[in-house]
Amino acid sequence: GALDYTEIQDTLISLARRAGDMMLAASPTASSTTSAKNNTSDLVTITDHAIESMILATLQLRYPSINFLGEETSKGGQKLTDRATFICDPIDGTLNFVHGFPNTAVSLALAVKKRPVVGVVYNPFRRDLYTAVKGQGAFLTTHTGEKHCLPLRSPPPPMSSLNGCLVAIEWGNQRSGPNWDLRTSLSTTLMSSKSTGGAMVHSIRSSGSAALDFCYVAAGQLDLFWEGGCWVWDVAAGWIILEEAGGIVASANPGSWKPTMEGRLYFAVRAAKEQEQIAVVEELWELMGER
Ligand code: IPD
Repeated sequence: GALDYTEIQDTLISLARRAGDMMLAASPTASSTTSAKNNTSDLVTITDHAIESMILATLQLRYPSINFLGEETSKGGQKLTDRATFICDPIDGTLNFVHGFPNTAVSLALAVKKRPVVGVVYNPFRRDLYTAVKGQGAFLTTHTGEKHCLPLRSPPPPMSSLNGCLVAIEWGNQRSGPNWDLRTSLSTTLMSSKSTGGAMVHSIRSSGSAALDFCYVAAGQLDLFWEGGCWVWDVAAGWIILEEAGGIVASANPGSWKPTMEGRLYFAVRAAKEQEQIAVVEELWELMGER
């Protein structure tokens, strides 16, 4: 039968709150509870595994016909298919979690035909809950229980060019190679003074969680997020939250407006007039071409 997205959202919210309690109860340290996956900055803690197991067990019992794709259980290179699939990042921002930097979230989504239709992102340290169901808008529920429509400012302020944008860029865990070169050179271009004076963007932020960066762009607290190499579980929930908040996701590969969730290179742009969103993406594409 047809899936009840609202009911699924409620299930994901209660799982996200349980996962949040597990994060708050844990006391990870870099030496005792973590191990490096691919290199020294790609960490996983026992809490990542415990949360994903809890979520997987509950969802498989309750929705046996829906696939599951999780960061920690997808070791075998499992691919997203057209089938309805839960996508889980138990702890997005594991490095922050290990250091006690309170910008960490659990990210849960339902995708159908490789597109996200339900998204839930929860940061237990701030008790911020971001949610969206396709066609029903995006919301932030704060620690006081107040529920705000996203974007927070409506109508959103103008965004005439990259000039004056607050931009998020994450550094990822690959610290060499072409992706690294692109990140560092584009960051320098965006931050340094132009011949006319003033930097190209207001500034760059790196919060350490791609899922939360998407939510901050959805809220309109960041104008742009440029992601240079993340995975489907980092972006699926934030993606639908952003789209429902009037934002867009474009590929960071110049020329592509309809990236897939497995594309790995994205620009997320906040709600604004469509021509403003297009202009900013084209400006970024041009800068990438000029490198
Ligand atoms: C990471 C974070 C980070 C991004 C990395 C991701 P994880 O997720 O989202 O911001 O730069 O590419 O892998 O490993 O903490 O779930």
